[in-house]
Amino acid sequence: TPSSMELVQDTSRPPLVKVKGVPLIKYFAEVMGPLQSFQAWPDDLLISTYPKSGTTWLSEILEMIYQGGDLEKCHRAPIYIRVPFLEFKCPGVPSGLETLKDTPAPRLLKTHLPLGLIPQSLLDQKVKVVYVARNAKDVAVSYYNFYKMAKLYPDPGSWDNFLEKFMDGQVSYGSWYQHVQEWWELSRTHPVLYLFYEDLKENPKREIRKILEFLGRSLSEETVDHIVQHTSFEEMKKNPMANYSTIPTEMMDHSISPFMRKGVC
Ligand code: A3P
Repeated sequence: TPSSMELVQDTSRPPLVKVKGVPLIKYFAEVMGPLQSFQAWPDDLLISTYPKSGTTWLSEILEMIYQGGDLEKCHRAPIYIRVPFLEFKCPGVPSGLETLKDTPAPRLLKTHLPLGLIPQSLLDQKVKVVYVARNAKDVAVSYYNFYKMAKLYPDPGSWDNFLEKFMDGQVSYGSWYQHVQEWWELSRTHPVLYLFYEDLKENPKREIRKILEFLGRSLSEETVDHIVQHTSFEEMKKNPMANYSTIPTEMMDHSISPFMRKGVC
C-alpha cells in the first residue's frame, strides 16, 4: 500500500486536461468517457453550478427538503455522499459513479460540467435542474482560495495571474461567462430553476419557496424556517457533514483556506 506521502505526490496538483476544449482536473477528465453512459432516472434532480457559486449550500437545502427537515437524516453522511458529484474522481476516494451505485431514488445529483459535457441521458429523461449563479467577482476570489487549498488543482500562482486565466476561461470547467449563459438558455427547452447566490443571501426563505414550487412539494412554515436556520453559513461552517472537513488533508487543506471561507457577497 502506498504511504500517504506517495499518495500526495501521486495526486498533487496535476495540470488540467482539456476535454472538448474545456480544461478539467486530470482525474475528472478521465471520467468523461464512462460518464457518457450514465443512466438518468426521471425523478433525479440535478444541481448544476459553476464552481464556488453556492453548490454545497443549495445541496444542503435540497437534502433537507428531501428529508422533510429531519436533521438526523441529514447528518447520516457527508454532503458529497448524500449528493453524488457526477464527474468526481480522485485516487483512493470513491468516485461519483461509484457513490451513485449505493444511492437510492429519488436522487440528488451534482455537476459543474458545461452543457456540452453532461451525459445525454439527463436531457433525454428531462431531469429537473436547479442552477445557481453567483457574480463573477466573488466566484473568482472564492475559486482562487479554493485552488490554493484543494490539491487536485494546479498551483493558482499570483492573484493577478489567476484572474487573467479566469477571465480567459483557462481555469477548471472553463469560462464562467459561457457557463452561466448556456444553462440560462437551456431553460427555454428544459425544466430549469435558475437561482442566484445573491438572492439566496438576501432572502433564503423566498428562494426555498421557489424551490418547493418547482419540485411540486410543500412543507410547513415551521419546517421551512428550520431549513433556513440549519443551512445558514454559520451552521454549515461548523457542520462536519457539510463543511468538507472529512476529506483527507492531502486533498483539501483547510488551514490554507477553509472550504466555508466567508460566504458573503
Ligand atoms: P466563499 O469562498 O466566498 O466564502 P461551492 O459550494 O459552489 O463550492 O461554493 C462555495 C462558496 O459558497 C464559498 O464561498 C462558501 O463559503 C459559500 N457557502 C457555503 N455554504 C454557504 C452558506 N450556507 N451560506 C452562504 N455561503 C455559503
